[in-house]
Amino acid sequence: MRAVDIITQKRDGGELTREEIDFFIQSYAQGEIPDYQASAWAMAVFFQSMTPRETTDLTLAMVASGETLDLSHVVKIAVDKHSTGGVGDKTTLVVEPIVSACGLPVGKMSGRGLGFSGGTLDKMESIPGFRCDLSTAEFLAQLKQVGLVLTGQTADLAPADGKLYALRDVTGTVQSIPLIASSVMSKKIAAGAQAIVLDVKIGLGAFMQTEAEARTLATRMVEIAKLAGRKAVALLSDMNQPLGCAVGNALEVKEAIATLKGDGPPDFREHCLEVAGQMLTLGGVAPNKAAARQLAIEAIADGRGLTRFRELVAAQGGEVSFVDQPEKLPQAQFVESVATPRSGYLRQVHARIIGETVVELGGGRAKKGDPIDHAVGVMVHHKVGDFVEAGAPLFTIYANHQDLLRAARVRLLEAYQWSDTPVEPLPLFYGLVE
Ligand code: URA
Repeated sequence: MRAVDIITQKRDGGELTREEIDFFIQSYAQGEIPDYQASAWAMAVFFQSMTPRETTDLTLAMVASGETLDLSHVVKIAVDKHSTGGVGDKTTLVVEPIVSACGLPVGKMSGRGLGFSGGTLDKMESIPGFRCDLSTAEFLAQLKQVGLVLTGQTADLAPADGKLYALRDVTGTVQSIPLIASSVMSKKIAAGAQAIVLDVKIGLGAFMQTEAEARTLATRMVEIAKLAGRKAVALLSDMNQPLGCAVGNALEVKEAIATLKGDGPPDFREHCLEVAGQMLTLGGVAPNKAAARQLAIEAIADGRGLTRFRELVAAQGGEVSFVDQPEKLPQAQFVESVATPRSGYLRQVHARIIGETVVELGGGRAKKGDPIDHAVGVMVHHKVGDFVEAGAPLFTIYANHQDLLRAARVRLLEAYQWSDTPVEPLPLFYGLVE
């Protein structure tokens, strides 16, 4: 087989066989196919797409490029969650401790920020000492002993995805349904998940802009899970405006801790209760979603979720005093509250512009491996549908450079649109794919 024939076949709209896909992926993972051919192939897939069968074969080929974890001797059922990425999405920080507190152990391998969307590992590293590089042996031991792990993907799991993802990030080939579906599902299957709650984001700050695209992606991922013998459900959730109020690493950790104390923003709390409810139902801890949700509410109310978060931080070498006193988390030098320039109903709080602005403030990376500033970010004080009086605080900028703060102020005001007539608040969810 020759890589060039596989590329041209896909370029011309052909359907690839399982053998061709497997050959291409294994050869790429082993360095036998160079990046330029893999880029051409990814672009061909971007334009020609893939059938559900090809997408499943691609997923399984990426799983086969590395090791697969078997968690059956560690936990009764391994339930995982995965968000397709968004702005202000600190859900994992709240949901995992809650679910674990309700009796369902969770071991999650998360990612770093990508483009305008934030990453769980970067957020957790706002806590000094917190380690995100656990070995497989450490991951398994902590899952057994503590019942809660939050670390980075180990290099031996789905390495083809790691390589291809980095390539897609710089070749304009991220926003492809078969490529996203296989990327997400290969990681989850390789990490041993038996049941998966997918959080598929839709809107201005998401990789999928429309509900129709998001539904197709969700359906594709749920089908792959089924064919691989795993259970999955996919929530379709809004990402037109940021989730919660905080965008930026340390600010999001503070908001997650506040939510675990019962003080978080209502939209974010509700989002977490829904995801936790789905995980607890899939994990068989509760007979139905209403009962699962009640368990999650109780784990927040009696402080067990927060205690579990503290235990997670301690287990991975983090300074627990930063959980007890979140004001110790990295603080920006300059904090500026920006007032609403006009009265009206908020019609748009553009999530992508806010995410990009936080990256420009230093809260994300311009290129792979760049250091990030955990202290910087933005707090949005109002949501779509709110009536805001001229002069009232609209957002607060946290910056470490005056010039970046000035640029952020201008850019952030572009994220907002007003209406003189009432505007419906945005829904949190658009449906569930089972
Ligand atoms: N998240 C992933 O893990 N992969 C993608 O391709 C997009 C979002």
